[in-house]
Amino acid sequence: MPHNESSSLIILQALLKADSDFVSGNDLAEKLGVSRVSIWGRMEQLRSQGFEFEAVTRKGYRITKKPESLNPLLAQAYLTNPEECPDLVFLTTIDSTNDHATRLLANDYEAPFFVISNQQTLGRGRMGRKWHSPPSSNLYLSFGSRPYVRPDRMQLFTLWMGVYVARHLRDWLDLDIGLKWPNDLFYNGKKLGGMLTEARVDADSLRELIFGIGLNVNQTKEDWPKELTDSATSLRELTGGELDLNKTAALLIEAIYKGYQAFLEGNIRTNFESMWPEFDILKGQTIEAETRDGTIEGVASGLDNRGSLIVKTTKGTVTTLNSGDVHLKRK
Ligand code: BTN
Repeated sequence: MPHNESSSLIILQALLKADSDFVSGNDLAEKLGVSRVSIWGRMEQLRSQGFEFEAVTRKGYRITKKPESLNPLLAQAYLTNPEECPDLVFLTTIDSTNDHATRLLANDYEAPFFVISNQQTLGRGRMGRKWHSPPSSNLYLSFGSRPYVRPDRMQLFTLWMGVYVARHLRDWLDLDIGLKWPNDLFYNGKKLGGMLTEARVDADSLRELIFGIGLNVNQTKEDWPKELTDSATSLRELTGGELDLNKTAALLIEAIYKGYQAFLEGNIRTNFESMWPEFDILKGQTIEAETRDGTIEGVASGLDNRGSLIVKTTKGTVTTLNSGDVHLKRK
């Protein structure tokens, strides 16, 4: 990070930590080993990005307004340990953050890294669906890596990451966020976000891994396209207030990176079996699943330790699905 940017980041972190209290310009100058004039210069530069500060003689500065749309410095300032976080690539607009991550990996960009965009013009969901990606209200983020993971473990990856994301959001907002197998974040029967993992496997070993997530943050009911009004929701709708997009981005980045590190290190199968049930919104529900061999109907009965969905079918048999599309049957 260029020197000027890293001093702006340190200033922002100090101001965010102080919350509504003042931070003295002298303290900031001392901390950074620069003059007060130079602090003033950095504050002016932050103002040009949409921050507003109150400056009071002998007291110092405090933040009075933060940018509402995605701001790289602010998102980083919210991270608990910005220095331990992989590289963050912020974009104003892109076709798809997953596609951009694929290109970066193909061009030997140092991994792991995150790609975050303010909007996507060709956002993709599972099964060739489109992912609604308007500017400035939601998060579109991909994590690119070149891990060493046995391909047979990959079926668990999205599910595992989903647990980390759902748990972080639940703890932060005190909302009972759940997961709908295999890749949806759900609340009260509505979709809050979706995940799309893409991997390149060569000669039996995993070369490149991209984990993409779209999270509906500040989208309002009126702004959904008609076909999504009844099936989608956003954190704003659930909490009843606008969320800080940059803080939410930081939380998501931390959840993903923690989840990824734990996936590489841990005893994932055993841990997964104990983690999943807490978030499983399908368990005990009558479902209909579209599989390659046709539609099956039955009661969802949890996952096995490979991440496959166990279904007790209406025909009295038990079957496991390792991919597919599931709908809850209305009673
Ligand atoms: C789904 O529910 O079908 C998965 C949706 C995944 C959407 C995210 S948004 C960021 C990343 N880039 C994409 O094009 N798709 C994923």
